[in-house]
Amino acid sequence: EAIEKGGFEHFMLKEIFEQPRSIADSMRGRVRAEEEHLQLGGLRDYLGQLAASERVVIVGCGTSWHAGLVAEYIFEELARIPVEVEYASEFRYRNPIIKERDVVIAISQSGETADTLAAIELAKSKGATIFGVCNVVGSSIARTAHAGAYTHAGPEIGVASTKAFTAQVTVLTLMALSAAQQKGTISNTVFRQLLAELERIPALVEKVLRDAQKVKEIAYIFTYARNFIYLGRGLNFPVALEGALKLKEISYIHAEGYPAAEMKHGPIALIDEDMPVVVIATKDSSYEKVVSNIQEIKARKGRVIAVVTEGDSHIREMVDFVIEIPNVHEMLMPLISVIPLQLLSYYIAVMRGRNVDQPRNLAKSVTVE
Ligand code: G6P
Repeated sequence: EAIEKGGFEHFMLKEIFEQPRSIADSMRGRVRAEEEHLQLGGLRDYLGQLAASERVVIVGCGTSWHAGLVAEYIFEELARIPVEVEYASEFRYRNPIIKERDVVIAISQSGETADTLAAIELAKSKGATIFGVCNVVGSSIARTAHAGAYTHAGPEIGVASTKAFTAQVTVLTLMALSAAQQKGTISNTVFRQLLAELERIPALVEKVLRDAQKVKEIAYIFTYARNFIYLGRGLNFPVALEGALKLKEISYIHAEGYPAAEMKHGPIALIDEDMPVVVIATKDSSYEKVVSNIQEIKARKGRVIAVVTEGDSHIREMVDFVIEIPNVHEMLMPLISVIPLQLLSYYIAVMRGRNVDQPRNLAKSVTVE
């Protein structure tokens, strides 16, 4: 097992550090920015159908559901296709409205999650076309789907999903870009820019990982916190949910993810000097709004850990701790901003002496209802 961990203390840490490679693997043979080439082989015959679909419904559970929420923003923004993201477990118990021209994208690392499989069967019976985004080759979901794209992240052993998430987001971004190109809803300039930036992502993730020590120091300070709030807006909102989920799963600290603007409708009541708030505050279209959310937290003495774009001195002056990450196109930011949150949860859990790779009560793959 020590050999399998490749010198890392836990599988989870190894998998976090594998992300530059796993993200590159999920694009391998699919993207060549220089030639403006983008092709997902497994979708070739279905691309027209995706571009012509009136609606995309995404189903998944846990971290895969969060990847779906990221994809919702990207599909709607780039391909102008309305998207609904559903918990697979809820979807099948409420007689969902599915039409034949709907495309259902099922996201699952294992490809074996019982609720997701059942949601697919239901959608299939109503005539929808199913795309699978799975990591495990030949898994039940991959075989049941009409078409799909593997994430190629390699085996994920840690129960808390990390590299599978970034690979899912990468592949879903490629899908949205393909659909947008087919539909003509994206300009050549933006298409080219996004492909070029996608190719840079592995190197940028590498850069974030080089600062792991800084995250570890912050984790040390907050090891004994009893609650955490995670805030983000836009594409960083699902990242906030994912950061909170990671912390809950492996450290057993209660954590909530919220869209930053919703804070005033409830969570703000929780804020005092004992409440750490992780705010993803990168320089994007909602930056100014997030800055005012940070001011609201500081006015109530909350302790803010902000994930910011490198060189942001404005937020540094306002908050307790900053974690800097490199700048990238807003659409691709979740691939970068999630990395410090994975590290934060990992280090806190280790410092609390938790069984990081096999947290209590959780299973890697939930094959029963
Ligand atoms: C379990 C795992 C999670 C995972 C979820 C969905 O709850 O502990 O890490 O996100 O199942 O799994 P899937 O294999 O369908 O992505």
